[in-house]
Amino acid sequence: MDTLLLTSNDLAGLLDMKEVIGVVEQSFKDYATGKAQMPSKVYLRVEKGDFRAMPGAVPGAVGMKWVNVHPLNRNLGLPTVMGIILYSDPHSGYPLAIMDAADITAYRTAATSAIASKYLARPESRSLGLIGAGRQAHMHLLSHAAIFTLDAVKVYDVRPEAAEAFVRHFPQFNVKSTSAEEALASDIVCTLTPATAPVVKASWVKPGTHINAVGADAPGKEELEPGILNRARVVVDDVAQACHAGEINMPVRQGLFRKEQIWASLGEIVAGARPGRPDAQTVTVFDSTGLAIEDVAAARLVYEKARKRGGYLSVDLIGA
Ligand SMILES: NC(=O)c1ccc[n+]([C@@H]2O[C@H](COP(=O)([O-])OP(=O)(O)OC[C@H]3O[C@@H](n4cnc5c(N)ncnc54)[C@H](O)[C@@H]3O)[C@@H](O)[C@H]2O)c1
Repeated sequence: MDTLLLTSNDLAGLLDMKEVIGVVEQSFKDYATGKAQMPSKVYLRVEKGDFRAMPGAVPGAVGMKWVNVHPLNRNLGLPTVMGIILYSDPHSGYPLAIMDAADITAYRTAATSAIASKYLARPESRSLGLIGAGRQAHMHLLSHAAIFTLDAVKVYDVRPEAAEAFVRHFPQFNVKSTSAEEALASDIVCTLTPATAPVVKASWVKPGTHINAVGADAPGKEELEPGILNRARVVVDDVAQACHAGEINMPVRQGLFRKEQIWASLGEIVAGARPGRPDAQTVTVFDSTGLAIEDVAAARLVYEKARKRGGYLSVDLIGA
């Protein structure tokens, strides 16, 4: 027996967006039908940041993401967020793999938004608006291109140089750097910033738009004016996490949006227990906070592929 050690370099060669979309969609269905488990995230505060433990189990796979947020890390030449996934055998508990979590997080987050768009956006959607031009924006373009035929992509970033670099990075797509308001005139919009005050105004949102609100994944973060939520069909990845740390966390705290206004969880919609989009005019919002089941489903995919390919670093970690 051995434990695989999969580095970020290894992960880059093992992840495939269409495959991740497939396993993450199944994990949402399993969660909604009681076949997956996900206890609440555990937060641990330390002097200069915090740690989060995210355990989860999907049929045949169990694991935990252990991830930090240290905002001052750039002074040390280190990323703010680093993480590993511990992946174990559900039958014996044996530690099958320890893997870097950055790429898995990037892929599974974008895959989840594309799944939400598949169920909630108008089926004929052809344009994508991206607010924020960082890592997640790159992944969201790829995940949506895996499901939709994209004629036009508009990107806005508070740093114009980031939006310009994004345009140059994707010559194969029709990408334009625009204002935030122009980017909102798209069939599907993804908000992908660390903003703590709304960057999207309610007056910019056109009927029929689907918005994936992804940036707000911690208490105090917020990207949409609350008026958008009040006129939209709001779907969350997980009710408790969304109220605590998602796009709706601030409006709920401020009494501007009630938990009872949530239409459904994404899993309920994927499982067919609740309908998604009702008509071509309704605005839909998916509030993404990021779930452990998404990580475990993607980790399983990567682990099984790595075992099949062979040649990866492994150690006799526990000497059994
Ligand atoms: N929901 C989830 O599952 C999930 C998962 C991963 C990351 N996230 C969140 O998504 C956000 C983006 O992550 P990332 O890895 O792409 O970060 P990143 O740092 O690579 O990119 C963020 C981009 O947003 C831009 N930006 C900042 N404030 C802005 C504003 N007010 N208006 C427009 N642009 C602005 C920055 O210039 C930067 O280019 C973060 O808040 C992160 O915590 C959520």
